[in-house]
Amino acid sequence: MFNSVTVAVALVQGIQLATAAYYDSFKSGVNPLNISIPSIPQTTSYDLATECTSYVPDPSLFNFTASEWPTVWQTATSNGINSSAEFTTLYNSIAWANAPNIPVRTLNTDGSMNTAGYDVVNDPNCWWTVSGCTVPKLADVNKDIYQCPEPATWGLTYDDGPNCSHNAFYDFLQEKNLKASMFYIGSNVMDWPYGAMRGVRDGHHIASHTWSHQYMTTLTNQELLAEFYYTQKAIHLATGVTPRYWRAPYGDVDDRVRWIASQLNMTCVLWDYDTNDWAVGEGETLQQVQTAYSNFIQMGTNGTMASSGNIVLTHEINNTTMQLAIDNLPNVLSNYKHVTNVATCQNITYPYFEQTISFPSFSQYLASNSSAGNASTATGGAAGSSPTTSATSTTSGALSLTSQVNAGLMVLMAMVAIAVN
Ligand SMILES: *[C@@H]1O[C@H](CO)[C@@H](O)[C@H](O)[C@H]1NC(C)=O
Ligand SMILES: *[C@@H]1O[C@H](CO)[C@@H](O)[C@H](O)[C@H]1NC(C)=O
Ligand SMILES: *[C@@H]1O[C@H](CO)[C@@H](O)[C@H](O)[C@H]1NC(C)=O
Ligand SMILES: *[C@@H]1O[C@H](CO)[C@@H](O)[C@H](O)[C@H]1NC(C)=O
Ligand SMILES: *[C@@H]1O[C@H](CO)[C@@H](O)[C@H](O)[C@H]1NC(C)=O
Ligand SMILES: *[C@@H]1O[C@H](CO)[C@@H](O)[C@H](O)[C@H]1NC(C)=O
Ligand SMILES: *[C@@H]1O[C@H](CO)[C@@H](O)[C@H](O)[C@H]1NC(C)=O
Ligand SMILES: *[C@@H]1O[C@H](CO)[C@@H](O)[C@H](O)[C@H]1NC(C)=O
Ligand SMILES: *[C@@H]1O[C@H](CO)[C@@H](O)[C@H](O)[C@H]1NC(C)=O
Ligand SMILES: *[C@@H]1O[C@H](CO)[C@@H](O)[C@H](O)[C@H]1NC(C)=O
Ligand SMILES: *[C@@H]1O[C@H](CO)[C@@H](O)[C@H](O)[C@H]1NC(C)=O
Repeated sequence: MFNSVTVAVALVQGIQLATAAYYDSFKSGVNPLNISIPSIPQTTSYDLATECTSYVPDPSLFNFTASEWPTVWQTATSNGINSSAEFTTLYNSIAWANAPNIPVRTLNTDGSMNTAGYDVVNDPNCWWTVSGCTVPKLADVNKDIYQCPEPATWGLTYDDGPNCSHNAFYDFLQEKNLKASMFYIGSNVMDWPYGAMRGVRDGHHIASHTWSHQYMTTLTNQELLAEFYYTQKAIHLATGVTPRYWRAPYGDVDDRVRWIASQLNMTCVLWDYDTNDWAVGEGETLQQVQTAYSNFIQMGTNGTMASSGNIVLTHEINNTTMQLAIDNLPNVLSNYKHVTNVATCQNITYPYFEQTISFPSFSQYLASNSSAGNASTATGGAAGSSPTTSATSTTSGALSLTSQVNAGLMVLMAMVAIAVN
């Protein structure tokens, strides 16, 4: 017999099912709970040229239809995909009348941000690039995350992947049982889908880093929506999961950009320590970046991280940045009690909309490994536990039943249950 709990659950589900979410129509041939990556030289070799040889993915895993996508490495509207029925429907589903009236910014001829005329002191738009602001001035906009709160915790994050040549780096992370937050560029996911599959398979926390990696405040509302949406669709196509989190390239975010991300239920993750590793050879020497790493590592034991942890900006971009990571992580592990991804350090157990994969909360991460938290134990000790499949995975199909008809049926079932009771 139904009881009142059943009725309440059915009613709540009925309400949730009433709105179709934008990601419900995304398709994927990949089951994120059971990923096996095709064994081709690109996925097994350690030779850069072999790893970076382009391949045609197995269409049963990654079914690419060009007419449904922007051009890679160009603004996500550049090929006119924004006039498609799919994008137009999404665009029209947003209440643009409520969007903040904040100007689209421009770059100076030298590539730097043009801040002329902006009130830097009062920072009315919470523009990180000029002020480091992370708490929106607008209501109803998701606040940025920029730190792991637990003391002596290194928030492990890598931007700009999946890079074609990451096999040695991902093998290293796996060996050390480290789970990072990986901010993937949509264009890289389209070019190297098996690389993205591996990120999910290895238990990393996958988040978005936009379609074409531009200064977000310089894009129009429609361009921003396309940069977010097609990256969501790409990550879902390659992995079967859709991220709730994203990171602004160059940290360039203001309340207009945050408002649009919030319409897609996405939250920005920034950082509070920057290694500048991406700039080796472009304004920074290898030695300068190594010094930054060494300073941040020292902070793990000299009192700087005694009351809170950090989130460190590092990159997957290329061999230089990945080798820096491999060379420094052993010392990170010995100087910090905890080295983990942003989902775990923030207790975000469901960092994807699908709720198929759950991540350990910080206390679960601690409990899962008695040596986690002991900085002097073996290097793997601080890594923490793997994401697990959750009980909801068997019922996740229900999440896609979103039509009004289904909502109506759920309410009807609830009413029947009341009648039976
Ligand atoms: C965003 O999340 C809210 C609350 O969970 C939900 O009601 C809404 O449908 C979601 N919107 C989209 C576009 O996914
Ligand atoms: C996992 O995938 C493999 C093939 O890739 C398949 O043979 C196996 O049955 C799957 N297991 C589950 C539990 O779905
Ligand atoms: C691939 O996508 C196309 C267009 O969406 C569809 O017609 C086709 O059936 C799909 N193929 C597979 C193997 O899923
Ligand atoms: C598509 O985007 C481009 C570039 O932002 C813009 O010029 C064009 O007007 C947009 N098209 C539609 C139908 O909105
Ligand atoms: C890595 O990228 C940086 C620019 O971001 C460049 O200066 C450096 O030479 C690259 N290293 C390799 C090995 O390609
Ligand atoms: C800890 O180390 C950092 C980096 O070397 C340094 O800037 C800071 O002053 C040190 N703090 C203390 C309390 O020694
Ligand atoms: C990926 O890494 C390789 C090797 O380090 C580098 O040559 C390439 O430019 C990187 N690709 C991207 C898209 O950053
Ligand atoms: C970087 O390239 C060198 C030379 O090819 C290679 O030995 C090393 O393993 C690479 N590092 C990473 C992290 O891939
Ligand atoms: C995570 O959960 C633990 C245990 O409940 C709590 O102490 C901690 O404050 C939480 N962290 C965040 C960021 O919510
Ligand atoms: C940490 O590990 C070291 C070396 O294995 C051990 O001697 C020490 O007792 C451990 N401390 C705690 C608090 O577990
Ligand atoms: C627990 O710590 C041990 C020793 O440091 C390590 O080998 C193991 O991989 C860790 N396990 C988990 C689940 O983190």
